[in-house]
Amino acid sequence: MAKIEKTEEILKDGTTIVLRSPEIEDAQKFIDYCNHMFSNSEFVVTEPDEYEGDLEKQQKWITDFDGKAGAISIISELDGKIIGNIDFRNRSGRRRIQHRGDFGMGVVKEFRGKGVGKLLISKLIEWARSSDNSVEKIELMVMAGNKPAIRLYESLGFKEEGRVYKEIKMSDDRYIDGISMGLWLY
Ligand SMILES: CC(C)(COP(=O)(O)OP(=O)(O)OC[C@H]1O[C@@H](n2cnc3c(N)ncnc32)[C@H](O)[C@@H]1OP(=O)(O)O)[C@@H](O)C(=O)NCCC(=O)NCCS
Repeated sequence: MAKIEKTEEILKDGTTIVLRSPEIEDAQKFIDYCNHMFSNSEFVVTEPDEYEGDLEKQQKWITDFDGKAGAISIISELDGKIIGNIDFRNRSGRRRIQHRGDFGMGVVKEFRGKGVGKLLISKLIEWARSSDNSVEKIELMVMAGNKPAIRLYESLGFKEEGRVYKEIKMSDDRYIDGISMGLWLY
């Protein structure tokens, strides 16, 4: 089962947060978190009205990580509220591409810049290195211009690998390139 042990971590400002894998009982909290994230960042792909916030679907989304060797979901929590997440999948049962996977992540607006994002990716890297999964490389796609995210990934050793022209089209018809980045673990 792809889950991490629950740990307590201390942020730059001294606040103690919890990192753990979500359980089915966290589905409603996760919905509240997603509603916040999709309304509070121009750098996520989902627009607020595209997210259904359906309890059963969210429960299935959480339990779908169970039993998958190359997939993990991690949340950061404070006072029982989800304040950040990262989810990683190698997305395929095909052996030739099982050595790599990609992630998505976010941190609630009022907690950005305090070290939550760095803790979440560091925990993902620790899991990928230590467990008996087949992950050798962690990948992601980030919107060009998302400086906080790009700096965070670079600070942990991720390298830019390419640029996808006009990957994103915003509702005001602006196009944004996608930057693909990767971190080899070995
Ligand atoms: C990107 C995101 C997940 C980063 O999480 P975070 O908790 O704010 O990041 P951290 O506080 O751990 O920052 C770690 C490093 O990232 C860089 N960074 C973070 N915020 C930054 C900012 N506003 N400007 C420049 N660099 C920044 C710094 O290098 C920082 O290290 P330092 O504090 O030691 O200097 C968060 O800003 C977020 O949720 N943004 C909206 C959604 C999003 O963009 N998701 C990613 C899609 S690919």
